[in-house]
Amino acid sequence: MEQTWQTDLYQDKHSFVWQLGQGVVELLNPQPGEQILDLGCGTGQLTQAISNRGATVIGLDADPTMIAEAQQNFPALSFSVADAREFTLLEPVDAIFSNATFHWVTDQEAVTRRLWAALKPGGRLAVEFGGKGNMAAVLAAIAAARDTLGYGAAPESRWYFPAIGEYTSLLECHGFEVQFAHLFDRPTPLVGAAGLTNWLKMFAGQFWVDLAPEQQQQLWRETERHAQAQLYQQGQWWADYRRIRVLATKP
Ligand code: BEZ
Repeated sequence: MEQTWQTDLYQDKHSFVWQLGQGVVELLNPQPGEQILDLGCGTGQLTQAISNRGATVIGLDADPTMIAEAQQNFPALSFSVADAREFTLLEPVDAIFSNATFHWVTDQEAVTRRLWAALKPGGRLAVEFGGKGNMAAVLAAIAAARDTLGYGAAPESRWYFPAIGEYTSLLECHGFEVQFAHLFDRPTPLVGAAGLTNWLKMFAGQFWVDLAPEQQQQLWRETERHAQAQLYQQGQWWADYRRIRVLATKP
């Protein structure tokens, strides 16, 4: 899906995206000398973490602003703009890594075809993204806020949050062998008193494309009000993230 990013807000207030992605790097277990693709590399922090293990990494991301920032952050690494549904590589790689990206792409058939083509036989895929039930409380609060303000139903979500059976079946249909799949809650603290509103502005614009700027501000305030009982705990905002984490191989 189309999404433009404010890289300063992303790096300043949403660094948890890559800090919490370290576990996926452990699942990938990069080895010295391996060729690895980081698909949806954002501003490059996990690309660098993989490179630190001695692998040669290529970072791809659909957003040119993210790639420009990644290249500036890590000039020694190789980054390019590419769409996960259409990318091709000069040579197949030993492994593909992806953190917090696949939920942005509803055409996962196309993505899975490209993953298969980009891996060597024996290659592996280590991915994590939003799973079934991800952000359910936030989505319910947005819907309730729109209702309270008389703005009608929100545009339909264009995020992909699959159950384990759905995603692993997709991989298996394309020939992958799934070694590991886990769906788990990962409540994630958001920075500061404006944490939820900052998250909404950064990630959830699809739910108020039909509203004028002052209506959007009302919607963010009203969403906070509806979400407060569930998502404001111990003096801070939390995002009710649920992750799906998968390790699969191409036989
Ligand atoms: C996620 O990481 O789960 C996510 C982030 C932004 C929008 C939707 C999901």
